[in-house]
Amino acid sequence: MIKPQVTIVGGGMITHDQILPTLYHMQRSGAIGEITVCASRAATVQALAAAEQLLRAFPGQSFRGLPATGGPQPELYRDTIQSMPPRQIVVVAVPDQLHFDVIMTALDHDQHVCAVKPLVLRHKQAVEIEQRARSKNLLVGVEYHKRFDDRSLMARRKYREGLFGEFRLGAACLMEKWYYRHSNFQNWCTTENSDAFTYIGCHYVDLVHFITGLLPTRVSVYGIPGQYPNGKTGFLWTDARVIWNNGACLNVQNSLSFPDAAPGTNTQGLTLYCQGADNGALLSHSDQYRGLKYSYIDGIYAEPSPDYFQYVDLGGPGLTPVGYGYRSVAYIVNKCIEVESAGESARAAILREIDEAGIMATPANSSYNERVIEAGRESILNGGREVAV
Ligand SMILES: NC(=O)c1ccc[n+]([C@@H]2O[C@H](COP(=O)([O-])OP(=O)(O)OC[C@H]3O[C@@H](n4cnc5c(N)ncnc54)[C@H](O)[C@@H]3O)[C@@H](O)[C@H]2O)c1
Repeated sequence: MIKPQVTIVGGGMITHDQILPTLYHMQRSGAIGEITVCASRAATVQALAAAEQLLRAFPGQSFRGLPATGGPQPELYRDTIQSMPPRQIVVVAVPDQLHFDVIMTALDHDQHVCAVKPLVLRHKQAVEIEQRARSKNLLVGVEYHKRFDDRSLMARRKYREGLFGEFRLGAACLMEKWYYRHSNFQNWCTTENSDAFTYIGCHYVDLVHFITGLLPTRVSVYGIPGQYPNGKTGFLWTDARVIWNNGACLNVQNSLSFPDAAPGTNTQGLTLYCQGADNGALLSHSDQYRGLKYSYIDGIYAEPSPDYFQYVDLGGPGLTPVGYGYRSVAYIVNKCIEVESAGESARAAILREIDEAGIMATPANSSYNERVIEAGRESILNGGREVAV
């Protein structure tokens, strides 16, 4: 595989904000070939093609948008994937509850996969994906981009060198802006499909494992239901308690509540209190406030993150995407290329190395996330009862 074709299934927020710009940059740099975006509605891909930010940053790039015309075609991704040459790349960016079908369709048609988090909602499904991918020497990477934030990689290295001792008690929070309630979320992030912990909280559960290597054993999630503007009900506020296999306890709070007028696109962070032989240790990350304070002439005050995803002018046409959001998607796509470029006999060993290194989340090394989601869903639907992972 020299320049793989890449098909993104889903043309919503994450495709616009992170995936397509990353792939456009890789296409512009010569790393990948044609890009297709398959949504269920023509209007979605038309809006994406006309997005001002993308046109400004990538004046020479374009994608093939499907469906080109007509009403909703929720099954179109099947034909689209089927018509790809084998062993290219499918990026899965549809709502959580659709990931499994799209990933299995891609694997059945011999495609490598980059899936946005959470991989799937059931552990059994993660195992099935792992087995199917392994039988065909295909890579499935789960896009937990916080892993590619340098502060996470620093924490992981220092924790594993023993500098923090052992994690005992911690708290994480990620509150998205209130206006999320008005987005397409209200159509799918409803009580029967998902909740604030499943949708957002999984990032910090994954990160605590990524840093410490510990595994979750028990979960309880208390959810407060609320109504979206369209009248549907969602667990818009959640408080979760995750117990780890060394007895440590992590509290995770999530919501769609951060005031629209507040600076930044959300509020989020992680604090871990740890213990050594005869002293305490602390690891604390403010993940939304990265030290920038901007007050613009239109009266708006902002605290932008330079670290997740920004466009910078490095000369040349357009703008260059930078940040861990870019690095995360590019890492997975480059690993797909590496696996595919190796000879058939070398692929299994490379895939095993990727699983064992644990830098990129894969079904084999991160399915504790699915266990937590599954237990968390059972807990939240039963008033916050503790459920074994
Ligand atoms: N921080 C993160 O890692 C992060 C952030 C945002 C979203 N996500 C994940 O990305 C996924 C999508 O989220 P989003 O924010 O882009 O949602 P969104 O609602 O903005 O977009 C979802 C997209 O999926 C498309 N879609 C729905 N059904 C489809 C079908 N049958 N065939 C093809 N396309 C279909 C819709 O057209 C829409 O374009 C979710 O799984 C979410 O959890 C991850």
